[in-house]
Amino acid sequence: MSRRVSASEIASRKGAAFPVITAYDAPFARCAEAAGIDVILVGDSLGMVVLGYDSTAQVELADMIRHGAAAARGAQRAHVIVDMPFGTYEASDELAVATAVALVKHGGAASVKLEGGERAAPRIRAIVAAGIPVCAHIGVLPQTASLGNGFRLKRERELLLRDADAIVEAGAFAVVLEMVEDALAAEITQRIAIPTIGIGSGPRCDGQVLVLHDVLGLFEDAPPFAKQYATLGADATAALRAYANDVRARTFPAERTATASPRDANGYRP
Ligand code: KIV
Repeated sequence: MSRRVSASEIASRKGAAFPVITAYDAPFARCAEAAGIDVILVGDSLGMVVLGYDSTAQVELADMIRHGAAAARGAQRAHVIVDMPFGTYEASDELAVATAVALVKHGGAASVKLEGGERAAPRIRAIVAAGIPVCAHIGVLPQTASLGNGFRLKRERELLLRDADAIVEAGAFAVVLEMVEDALAAEITQRIAIPTIGIGSGPRCDGQVLVLHDVLGLFEDAPPFAKQYATLGADATAALRAYANDVRARTFPAERTATASPRDANGYRP
């Protein structure tokens, strides 16, 4: 089996344009890898796009472990970054390290991501000291934005430059810039030695990340910066309507013929 892409390989992509996509289960992680995407983020956007919550704040560590492990089983070679959910790292370095260890041991994580700049730097330093690579996340911080800070574009230059410097100094191997004004995101990308991964932060970041369900047209509340490349939600509804119509019309299933197919006769693997 081939080795997974490492955090240091991602760090060495500084200056390259590389795609990152979220995934939360084995089939879509497999699709991402088959599409040539070798960095998968099991984001806590899981809460909204899969679990039906209205924010990321309700997501539990057990959710991230279950979905991280599933994504890692689906992708053989991709680097799987797993989000540390709200409430599992803020209180102390010890809590943060215990959470990161659990995500690596049981949740398929090759690295972890947490939110916050200067404020989160001690946690990043502690997790990195425990041997676990950390991807930072600055700009809009969805875990707390839903509690009051809001999802407005970030333009506070001094604050964001301090955040960027702090997470680099703490040892992060990459950083997500979420909804940072384009010119400022470009300045941060020029300034720091680790790759920036933009979402809603313009074209001059190193990598870009989007939420899978926005890209595939599976989530009705996609943000304005996302680009939809398919209409799987509408396609799924149409397919299910066709199936339901077949059952009601008794056109599915077809009558079994006298000689069962070998697949029927031998049983099947669900
Ligand atoms: O949870 C998530 O999907 C994320 C991305 C939006 C970067 O953190």
